[in-house]
Amino acid sequence: MENVSFYNPGDNEIITLINEDLKAFKIKQQSVGFFESQFVLYFNQGQLRLQFNKVDGSSFSQCVDFLDEKSIWKQGSLIQKNQIFTKAVGLKKGCLSVLDTTAGWGQDSMMLKTLGFNVTAVEENPLVYLLLRDGLRRFDEATPELKSPINLIHANSIAFIEGLSSESTFDVVYVDPMFPGKKKKALSGKPMQILKELVPTHEEKLGEILNAAFNITKKRLVLKRPLRDKIVESVWHKKADISFLGKAIRYDVFLK
Ligand SMILES: C[S@@+](CC[C@H](N)C(=O)[O-])C[C@H]1O[C@@H](n2cnc3c(N)ncnc32)[C@H](O)[C@@H]1O
Repeated sequence: MENVSFYNPGDNEIITLINEDLKAFKIKQQSVGFFESQFVLYFNQGQLRLQFNKVDGSSFSQCVDFLDEKSIWKQGSLIQKNQIFTKAVGLKKGCLSVLDTTAGWGQDSMMLKTLGFNVTAVEENPLVYLLLRDGLRRFDEATPELKSPINLIHANSIAFIEGLSSESTFDVVYVDPMFPGKKKKALSGKPMQILKELVPTHEEKLGEILNAAFNITKKRLVLKRPLRDKIVESVWHKKADISFLGKAIRYDVFLK
C-alpha cells in the first residue's frame, strides 16, 4: 500500500502483534515522522491509531475504542434510542447468528453483540480491519466476563459467502454499504472522512453483495441506506418487505 506507512520508533512488544499484517498488506515501516505518507499507522498508549494527512496540510487520527465513555457499548441507552435498528434486525429471544458484511468501524457489529447476537463481521479494507481488530482486542481483554466475542474476518464479503459450505447460513445478514455523498449521521465526521478516502463506492457491486447476502440468510437481510437513496432500486430489483425510517437513514428488511 503505497500511501500508507507504519511509524515504528523502536522495538516494542505490542508491535509484534501486527508485524505479520504489515508484511501481508505491504505496509512499509519508518522510524521518523508522522507526515511521510497520506496514512500513518502507529501505536499510542497501547492503541493502534491511524493518522490521516490531508492534502490541505491538516491531519487527524482515528482509532476504534469501544471502552471510551462515548462508545455505543457504554451507552446502553443508544440502543433504546435506536429502536428502528432493533426492530429491523428482528431481535427475538435466544441467540441468533448475524453476519455483518460491511464491518467498517464496528459500531453496528457492537450494537448487534450488545443485543445478544452471535456476530461474524467481515471487512475488506486492510486499514479499517486492523484498527477494528485492535479495538476488539482491547475490548475483549477489558471485558473477559462477556461471552461470544465478535468474530472478525478480513475478506471481501462476496468471496467470503461464496467460500462458505452449503450448510452454513446466518439467521440475519446485515449490509451497510458506502453510498456516494452519503451524509452519515450514524458515524461522526472524522471516521466517515477516513472511510470515504479509503473505500471506493462500487455501485455495481451493490447488487452482487445484496444477492450473496440474501442467498446466505435464513431469516432476513437488513440493508441500511440513506433515507432518500435511489441507487438500490437501480441495481437490485427486490422489494423490501418492511422498511423502518429514521430522519436520515432507513433500514430495509427482506424476509426469506
Ligand atoms: C459504511 S461502512 C460500514 C460502517 C459500519 N456499519 C459501522 O457501524 O461502523 C462500509 C464498510 O464496508 C466495507 N465494505 C464494503 N464492501 C465490502 C465487501 N464487499 N466486503 C467487505 N467489506 C466491505 C468498507 O470497506 C467499509 O469499511
